[in-house]
Amino acid sequence: MTNSQNQVYPIIWHDDTVSLIDQTRLPNEYAFVEIHRSEDMAWAIKTMIVRGAPAIGVAAAYGIYLGAREIETSNHQEFLQRLEQVAQLLRSTRPTAVNLFWAISRMMKTAYENLGSVAELKQNLLETAQAIHAEDLQTCQAIGDNGLAVLPKNPEKLTILTHCNAGALATAGYGTALGVVRSAWREGRLARVFADETRPRLQGAKLTAWECVQEGIPVTVITDNMAAHCMKQGLIHAVVVGADRIAANGDTANKIGTYSVAIAAKAHNIPFFVAAPLSTVDFALSDGSQIPIEERNPAEIYQVGDTILTPSGVDFYNPAFDVTPAELITAIITENGAFAPSDLAKSQVKQAV
Ligand code: MRU
Repeated sequence: MTNSQNQVYPIIWHDDTVSLIDQTRLPNEYAFVEIHRSEDMAWAIKTMIVRGAPAIGVAAAYGIYLGAREIETSNHQEFLQRLEQVAQLLRSTRPTAVNLFWAISRMMKTAYENLGSVAELKQNLLETAQAIHAEDLQTCQAIGDNGLAVLPKNPEKLTILTHCNAGALATAGYGTALGVVRSAWREGRLARVFADETRPRLQGAKLTAWECVQEGIPVTVITDNMAAHCMKQGLIHAVVVGADRIAANGDTANKIGTYSVAIAAKAHNIPFFVAAPLSTVDFALSDGSQIPIEERNPAEIYQVGDTILTPSGVDFYNPAFDVTPAELITAIITENGAFAPSDLAKSQVKQAV
């Protein structure tokens, strides 16, 4: 859903229902899926109707509430046991983005800490989901503005390359990497976005390009293998990407192909920024080797629409994410400020502006 400024809101709570923009149908169709039950929310996350780390966190939080409201018991213990099953289903949908687990943990903490009646507890769960939703929007706006402070000062109007979609669609609204882009655009600091197409799911070509068009931001779509060439030609001034999980040392998991973009940026002396909320930082993991990487259906590689691209008899490997080592990252932009990866621990305290 968009408002008068064409802001995109991929998750809407209304009339006791969650409406999701169906991101599998963009840009050709702008359609919504209505979600009433936790099982349907799990399916929507798994099939990427809703996707992007913060967005699946918000969706999972509502999923917990939708599951909770169907549990018919006044017995606290039984309620919690059954809610654990709902949480387990939602946790099993996608393994890499830590925001999913973060949001479910926050919802479950609400459930365990509420000692009132089951009816009060259900209401409390809805309020927590709504708080996670509202906070994410504010967080993204802060990330966007903090990003402005660290973007290169020259030239005045920048061309920024991004990979995948870390935009409004991937969050409650506004976006992380595209939040920085949006803030730069609104401050007159942006000339253009270069959007990597992002094989195999094409989030760059389909979603990032669509979002830029909604807001009138000039956008050039390139295939993934063109990024280094564009950098060499001097077309790119900075790279800004999102993240699915950041380890304590700053190693960052993001959409497959991000790592190659970071290597190319380093080779061309172009700053490479990661923009993400603190809910994406997993301080329990010391480095990126511990981040679980989702593998998806090989059909995403060999099939476009009804057309099969490859001969039979070949094997496929379809990791959905890769890990960019911290040494390739100029700064991690959070709601509390921008930090060198080695200073990530300081991000827990809001920086004075
Ligand atoms: O597989 P997806 O489309 O969920 O992957 C999304 C990304 O990799 C995004 O860059 C990341 O989640 C950050 S979204 C603000």
